[in-house]
Amino acid sequence: MNTRKIVTGAVLASVLGVAALAHSGATGVVKSRMEAMKEMQTAVKAIAPMMSGTAAYDASVVQDAAETFGRHSGEALTASFPEGSIEPPSEALPVIWQDWDHFEALARQLGIMAQGLSLASENGLHGGSGMMGNGMMMGSGSGMMMGGSPNMMGMTAEQIGQMPADGAFAMTTQVCAACHDRFREEDD
Ligand code: HEC
Repeated sequence: MNTRKIVTGAVLASVLGVAALAHSGATGVVKSRMEAMKEMQTAVKAIAPMMSGTAAYDASVVQDAAETFGRHSGEALTASFPEGSIEPPSEALPVIWQDWDHFEALARQLGIMAQGLSLASENGLHGGSGMMGNGMMMGSGSGMMMGGSPNMMGMTAEQIGQMPADGAFAMTTQVCAACHDRFREEDD
């Protein structure tokens, strides 16, 4: 359980620890994708305290967040990254277009996670040493994902939907972090 908490914390820090970068100056597609990303960050912030048990759990709020992740995933996400769109203040890295299949897979993966999280929302929190308590899964998961599998850890949305909501949430933020680690400039 503690392992899960720590791992989740680290991933959250990576997702939320985005410097309050000035949006001023961002235009066009860079601006709109930053706004989409911010919207997802707000959704993560809205449910993170529920997932860690410090706020009352509300499945409908989790579903709303999942809807937000889903809406900005897959083709909606990839379409907002036309080749070479890295004009300041963008933090997007050119490797996105060199490794497009991987980028696309992560965008699609986010959609699968969002579906899974929505299904899992009714399950509530695990609170015990569930699957995500096993550091191995988180640890080796990113390795497997680097293999370019569109379906990280081989799980379908239905399978994720069987998990406690906090496990599904951890997997979702793991996808955010995996993409940022590789495709977004470090700003902290
Ligand atoms: C497929 C890759 C990918 C996924 C998945 C992804 N992001 Fe991002 N994200 C990026 C990239 C690339 C940028 C930098 C965009 C830019 O600056 O042009 C970014 C930027 C951001 C920013 C900074 C926006 C700003 O105003 O500068 C936040 C916040 C963010 N993402 C949150 C999230 C959250 C939360 C998730 C998951 C729910 C997520 N992202 C999933 C690739 C991704």
